[in-house]
Amino acid sequence: MKRDFLAIESLTTEELHGLLDRAAKMKADRRPSDVLAGRSIGMIFEKPSTRTRVSFEVAIAELGAHAVVLNASELQLGRGRRMLARAPFLADRALVVRTFEQDRLERLARWGDIPIVNALSDLMHPCQALADLVTVQERFGKLAGLSLTYVGDGNNVAHSLLTGGAMVGMNVTVATPAGYEPISQIVKRAEELAAGTGARIGVTTDAAAAAEGADVLYTDVWASMGQEREVEERRLIFAPYQVNGALVARAASNAIVMHCLPAHRGEEITDEVIEGPQSVVWDQAENRLHAQKALLEWLLT
Ligand code: CP
Ligand code: NVA
Repeated sequence: MKRDFLAIESLTTEELHGLLDRAAKMKADRRPSDVLAGRSIGMIFEKPSTRTRVSFEVAIAELGAHAVVLNASELQLGRGRRMLARAPFLADRALVVRTFEQDRLERLARWGDIPIVNALSDLMHPCQALADLVTVQERFGKLAGLSLTYVGDGNNVAHSLLTGGAMVGMNVTVATPAGYEPISQIVKRAEELAAGTGARIGVTTDAAAAAEGADVLYTDVWASMGQEREVEERRLIFAPYQVNGALVARAASNAIVMHCLPAHRGEEITDEVIEGPQSVVWDQAENRLHAQKALLEWLLT
């Protein structure tokens, strides 16, 4: 039966650990492979992208396959997505999709007979979380028992980190302004998963307390794609949630600082921190490639 990657929970915990280890191996031994030779993988972007698009294109090429990239402006939306999920010329292939509602991906996965990969939706960004877990494991040699504090908007990236962290036994605390918390069902599900792995899940409005002793400090933009009209309002509301030198000083002395990028320097993160010695943001971006190679290999072989 075909598998999809719509959320981190599309994987079992064992599969998740397997992909993280495989990504690390592929990074250590980066040679071209022909494992997907002759195959075409479709990619549809209904929102802008730099890292996801480039890392998938390179991942696909390094596996010997060919990427067919379509931007929203080039497609008849809806019909275009559905057609590609069943088109004979993509049969036995995969479709990587960045879109708005998670439901669109779920419907597409049910409709089509090829694996669907979530390249970011309003609700989730599982490819990012996969690369982020690769990055944390690479830095600390483990995941279970570490504490990750996410500061900022309770958005798609926060959601996937909550799920992923809970599954691997990492404590995840999300600090947001009141009213911008992660969706309660996702927090509840993360708590259920955490109960099985011994992780702790927390949601708070107190960024300083949440940062105390953290091994990982993570942030993302205050206004996500699609929320452009809220930029000004959010800039004021989120100002106390900046990841700056003072906040980093509260974390563990060997803490790492993460951001999925693109970043707004001087807003959610200062220049000094993103360029500082604790920042691993470039590793995160590079690890998108290795994580997605492991993912595509697993989905298609
Ligand atoms: N982090 C990430 O997904 O970046 P892009 O929006 O550039 O793809
Ligand atoms: N939360 C951001 C992530 C971008 C990679 C957004 O959805 O715009």
